[in-house]
Amino acid sequence: MEHIKLHDKFFKPYIQNQIIELSVKKVAEHINEDYQNVDTPMFLVTLNGAFMFASGLLRHTDFKCEMAFIKVSSYDGTSTTGQVTEVIGLDRPVKGRDILIIEDIVDSGLTMYNLVNKLKEEGAASVRIACMFFKPGAYRFRDSMKIDYKAMDIGNEFIVGYGLDYDQLGRELQDIWVVDPDYDGKDGNWK
Ligand code: IMP
Ligand code: MG
Repeated sequence: MEHIKLHDKFFKPYIQNQIIELSVKKVAEHINEDYQNVDTPMFLVTLNGAFMFASGLLRHTDFKCEMAFIKVSSYDGTSTTGQVTEVIGLDRPVKGRDILIIEDIVDSGLTMYNLVNKLKEEGAASVRIACMFFKPGAYRFRDSMKIDYKAMDIGNEFIVGYGLDYDQLGRELQDIWVVDPDYDGKDGNWK
């Protein structure tokens, strides 16, 4: 089987681009139904990972929206409150706005949980989440936060491609590749 090497890890083919694009189109169709009567929602794209998902979605949405791009990072803090999310680059007020967060992948859910709460605290009228990939086995907020739109569920494995990276490599790949811990590269069949 074909493999690629990114830094110290080997990855094998996992999900073909055609399949991804079909799932993205389906998500866009749901979003089109739900946002038909919402006045100019704000699409909030989380950089860097969600750029490809966002552009895929927007090829199929059919209503007027505003775009904003932010960077978020979450930490499991050591204090009792525990969780900190930094939001970088949100340059517009969200008060009263209907927000659709566009995220690449939801793993534990911590990043989204903190971002949603922040946006609500700042007075957003509504906040929904659209993610490309969802890891149900890792998700920790089942009882408190709904993921409104997701293109695909995956297992607890680590993936790259379609915007997702392993330490900044792999974002440009059109297909999804998954870590292959059993491959040692000795047959030389990798690039
Ligand atoms: P969470 O806060 O645990 O939900 O983590 C979400 C973030 O972790 C995503 O926005 C990604 O940046 C990163 N992440 C989680 N799983 C993967 C993966 O399989 N590949 C690449 N990045 C991942
Ligand atoms: Mg991300």
